[in-house]
Amino acid sequence: MALHVLVLGAAAGGGFPQWNANNAASRRARSGDPAATPCSQSSLAVSADGQNWVLFNASPDLRQQINDNPQLHPKEGVRHSPLAGVILTNGDVDHVAGLLTLRESQPLAVYATSRVLGVLARNSIFNVLNPAFVDRRAMALDKGFEPKTKDGKPIGLVVEPFAVPGKVALYLEDPEAGADFGTVEEDTIGLRVAERDGKAYCYYIPGCAALTTELGRRLEGAPLVMFDGTLWQDDEMVVQRAGVKTGRRMGHMSMAGAEGSMAAFAGLGVQRRIFVHINNTNPVLLADSPERAEAEAAGWEIAYDGMEVVL
Ligand code: MLT
Ligand code: MN
Repeated sequence: MALHVLVLGAAAGGGFPQWNANNAASRRARSGDPAATPCSQSSLAVSADGQNWVLFNASPDLRQQINDNPQLHPKEGVRHSPLAGVILTNGDVDHVAGLLTLRESQPLAVYATSRVLGVLARNSIFNVLNPAFVDRRAMALDKGFEPKTKDGKPIGLVVEPFAVPGKVALYLEDPEAGADFGTVEEDTIGLRVAERDGKAYCYYIPGCAALTTELGRRLEGAPLVMFDGTLWQDDEMVVQRAGVKTGRRMGHMSMAGAEGSMAAFAGLGVQRRIFVHINNTNPVLLADSPERAEAEAAGWEIAYDGMEVVL
């Protein structure tokens, strides 16, 4: 047994290159430039035994991600999947749209906070996940649980969800609700995942608006943290004229600068730090950028599709 963490998609919403992005980085990615490798949208697969897997988020690119990773291919019979289910960290499009790919009467379990399950329940398109085959199970914050297959078999993992600073999904923002757009605690969570029968564990936090003292304390000394790498700097989308929003406005802390995640992690003693959920405007996507060199010099790794970590 071990903890297997497989990056299915390293990019944030839109992927790299995003369909309508015409910046130099996206053009390099389309041209096959080896220093600008395309990345699909945000998702991990996690397993304790290398046989049974659970998804952490279901991206719009999920069908291709499954096809690209033999670990997730059907193994037996006419219909089969090594996927026991999906755990959601928020209701964002890049994390839930892939649920629609998981139709076709395959037994699965979908885990999310009651808040995010409510979002799915109110949108009838998710009924393509036939409730006769797909359970929806509420996760309580700060309570570890064992993800189980639809027929109740644990898969050797213990997952603990916890709230992190964040923002309600873009399509649910309530402009009348003040500066936080109606955000509640259960909108954005991080996950601690551990082997049930071993010592390995890690954290997955693909969206995070701030590294609070409490969150820092939780992560201290961890063997591995996979963390929100959306933007290099807060105003990067504005400066590149790719959008009008800052990272703060979107509920993401940035990597660089005195208030950035690299500085915030500096004293935490986290052994391995990997950025995930990387936006197509972030220069760290380019292997030859000074920002990539700076992140690596600070001890960070930049996730890529197909990256596998075994703890
Ligand atoms: C985010 O991570 O901020 C969202 O996925 C943005 C979006 O919905 O496009
Ligand atoms: Mn996102």
